[in-house]
Amino acid sequence: MLTTVEQLKDLKGKKVLVRVDFNVPQKNGVIRDDNRIRAALPTINYLVAQGAKVVLMSHLGKIKHKEAPEVVEAQKAANNMAPIAARLGEIVAPVKVSFCAETRGETLKAAVNALNEGEILVVQNTRYEKGEEKNDEALSAEWASLVDAFVMDAFGSAHRAHASTVGVPSILKAEGKQVAEGYLMIKEVDNLTRCVEVKAEDRPYVAILGGFKVSDKIKVIETLLAKCDKIIIGGAMAYTFKKALGQEIGTSPCELDQLDYAKKCYASGKILLPVDSVVAQHFDPAERAEGEIKVVEQIPEGYEGLDIGPKTRELYTNEILKAHMIFWNGPMGVFEQEDFQAGTIAVCEAIAKIEGKAFTVCGGGDSASAVKQFGYKSKFSHVSTGGGASLEMIENDGHLPGVDVLR
Ligand code: 3PG
Repeated sequence: MLTTVEQLKDLKGKKVLVRVDFNVPQKNGVIRDDNRIRAALPTINYLVAQGAKVVLMSHLGKIKHKEAPEVVEAQKAANNMAPIAARLGEIVAPVKVSFCAETRGETLKAAVNALNEGEILVVQNTRYEKGEEKNDEALSAEWASLVDAFVMDAFGSAHRAHASTVGVPSILKAEGKQVAEGYLMIKEVDNLTRCVEVKAEDRPYVAILGGFKVSDKIKVIETLLAKCDKIIIGGAMAYTFKKALGQEIGTSPCELDQLDYAKKCYASGKILLPVDSVVAQHFDPAERAEGEIKVVEQIPEGYEGLDIGPKTRELYTNEILKAHMIFWNGPMGVFEQEDFQAGTIAVCEAIAKIEGKAFTVCGGGDSASAVKQFGYKSKFSHVSTGGGASLEMIENDGHLPGVDVLR
């Protein structure tokens, strides 16, 4: 059963732990995109307005605790939450935001207890703790003991059964304390559920998949083959499919161990592959000679496919225009380079043309970055904040550990 943040009772003066996904792109504390911070604001603002004492926890980046101590320390330094707390403070001013550099112990407890009504505490990166990714019981119990209630608003992390996403709410629930879902979480789950529980009026349902490896997408391809009417394939993974059909792919990336699988998928009759490609001999623009980039149907020896070609853009656009529902994950080409953006832009343009006539979801990750970069975000029904989470939600027929624990 879904409990929304608005259904929580007697919030005034209560300590509420909110798991957010503030895993934003940043380097040396300089935040490149604060979209994930802003996406959590409706929930944070609501709790502040109710007079709750708001404790925010998130992971940031990866910390590999098995590495040598100095490596772990360097990873911690590179993934310190302090700049993120500072950015949140700027956004929600004059609401007071403080930061606790500790993830456990008396300092953290004291920081939580020092909060006044309507104030926010951002806790240091949950992954500083080895037990976070192991869903460690003692760690979950310590974090649960700090608060009166829990709100899950980290859709982007809901596919991880970690201490802060699953351990803490399990304990609080068992203790009879209140747990709920935030506005972002509810919006994401609602929109992605529609892509899983397909209704007749949402057909034709077209999935667009890109990305590097077929092997990363096996489960999602399987699920989408069962649910969709067509699957459009782009990105590097298209070349494994083309090779499986006996086509020339030059030096394009290819997973030889996935050829039989690709052939089997293609036999469904639902898969559309590129009929032409934009190719080059070198991936690195600095190494490329003048005139090296070509458009071809069969990729010659020494060349690799880096984007879909113009005929494919037209083919894919026509398919998209017929759709009543779209789920898109993965760009069509190396959109970070101007020469190979056209395929991904063509998909954005086609989706923009069916605005208001079809339900269109961009499943986060690189495709969401592309949609934002090219200025099409407002043209989509929904652009997810979670790349891995939205894919896993499709794969697992609407289930995620961080959702199942609450509902
Ligand atoms: C993401 O960026 O997809 C989420 O924050 C999850 O991050 P993770 O893959 O490091 O768990």
